Amino acid sequence: MKICRTRAELRDVVRGWKRAGETVGLVPTMGYLHEGHLGLVRLAREKADRVITTIFVNPTQFGPNEDLDTYPRDEARDLALLEAERVDAVFMPDVAEMYGAGGDTFVEVPGLSGILQGALRPGHFRGVATVVTKLFNIATPDFAVFGEKDYQQLTMIRQMVRDLDMPLEILAHPTVREADGLAMSSRNVRLNPEQRRQAVALSRALAAAETLARAAPEIAELEEAVQAVLAEAKDGDVQSVDIRDAETLAELSGPLSRPAVVLLAVRFGPVLLIDQRVITPAA
Ligand code: PAF
Repeated sequence: MKICRTRAELRDVVRGWKRAGETVGLVPTMGYLHEGHLGLVRLAREKADRVITTIFVNPTQFGPNEDLDTYPRDEARDLALLEAERVDAVFMPDVAEMYGAGGDTFVEVPGLSGILQGALRPGHFRGVATVVTKLFNIATPDFAVFGEKDYQQLTMIRQMVRDLDMPLEILAHPTVREADGLAMSSRNVRLNPEQRRQAVALSRALAAAETLARAAPEIAELEEAVQAVLAEAKDGDVQSVDIRDAETLAELSGPLSRPAVVLLAVRFGPVLLIDQRVITPAA
């Protein structure tokens, strides 16, 4: 497994693969890897001849009061996990290598960046769109894999790729969960045992919505059902419950008549957990 810390090193490696006619899959991450990330890597492994994973905690997607400084990191463990998955190259630049002296140009998908999580975290999706564009330009992959867990991020990246004619395919991987249903996240380690116990309310709320959805209820009724389950997590501060069109994230009202996505954001102390599920009314 090749470890590249500079853009030039990675470009060089990819150039060799492309000359040999091999396809390249990219899995962008911020490290502190868990089974969720490894699921993305395995999907890339299935689809592409060569797999690159990137590990970069991207400062431009963190707000001033967010957890950039405390974001968990464990380079040695991450590399061992990626080696075991037969990843071909890991790109681990530092901030100076990625942004240099410039950093004055941004990529933005305004409609999708300003709503939902984007309204709670101003600038977050602009930072994501910018770093993902840079990673695409550096690695020039044929495929890039993103998790459905970050549903708004996935939707935004798909639109960005369409709008800017980026020459690659975006693949989505379903959310990977702990045995009790909690969506895997690098942030879960920062929950105390009581918060960890209560955090299962997110996946339980989504399961309740999925069951109720079959009867094509009113959107407001679905929201109430989700809120009722989330209220069981006494230490959870519900930041948002949104039920949106599964493809466009447009607002919905009235009875559920097409696939929708339920998007949750709940804060436990300093830790913001998100989760999602696509729900569909019975035919
Ligand atoms: O989903 C993430 O971990 C990050 O937002 C990403 C896509 C690696 C960009 O920094």
